[in-house]
Amino acid sequence: MTVTFLMDGKEVTAQDEQTLLDVARENGIDIPTICFHEATTANAVCRICVVEVEGQRVLQPACIVKAADNMKVQTRSEKVIRARKTILEMLSATMDLSEAADIQGMMKEYGASDERFPDAHRRETDVKDDNPMYIRDYSKCLLCWRCVQVCADDAQYTFAINFDGRGYETQIGTFFDKAIPETSCVLCGQCVAVCPTGALKSKREYLLQQGVSPQEISVMNTGRKKRK
Ligand code: FES
Repeated sequence: MTVTFLMDGKEVTAQDEQTLLDVARENGIDIPTICFHEATTANAVCRICVVEVEGQRVLQPACIVKAADNMKVQTRSEKVIRARKTILEMLSATMDLSEAADIQGMMKEYGASDERFPDAHRRETDVKDDNPMYIRDYSKCLLCWRCVQVCADDAQYTFAINFDGRGYETQIGTFFDKAIPETSCVLCGQCVAVCPTGALKSKREYLLQQGVSPQEISVMNTGRKKRK
């Protein structure tokens, strides 16, 4: 069924199963996203895509809220801008965004400050380097859930990783914190492909960043020992 409503004062039409994000994109209206990915089921965990819908008490995540007749939606009201800025500042205060180029761009666009929450505890963890294909650096993880979803029933049906821990200690992990080779992981690399922050990274890219030469990596990959 087709619905008609106002988005930023402009009349738009959509199918009723479309989300507000779909409609915005079709109409050239930019709504930022972080946890949303076309290949995964939207779960609205990051809330950066919030918009103001007339009659709703709280801001609504555009990536899951469906279009409906006679809605009045504001995608860049003052309240929306303030919420997005605060979300970015909270992310920046609690995790390492140094390799999250898209989020850094959003921080600039929304004037978000690195200094807003100086007392916040930034998560620091050791890099997990336990398999030949990829590393896991959870100090860069914002818990967007994309990796868990592609590993599960959105794509691979492997179920090697999931949420682990509670509250602030929540992170992505394996069952009983097993090393990747001891899990059901098949090293397909889909989790690395959907990670938005560099928390998951190919082993090759990681080694190159550590200053290891392509030749040394090649030797490692073929299992040959380097002669001195
Ligand atoms: S992109 Fe919509 S909640 Fe994350």
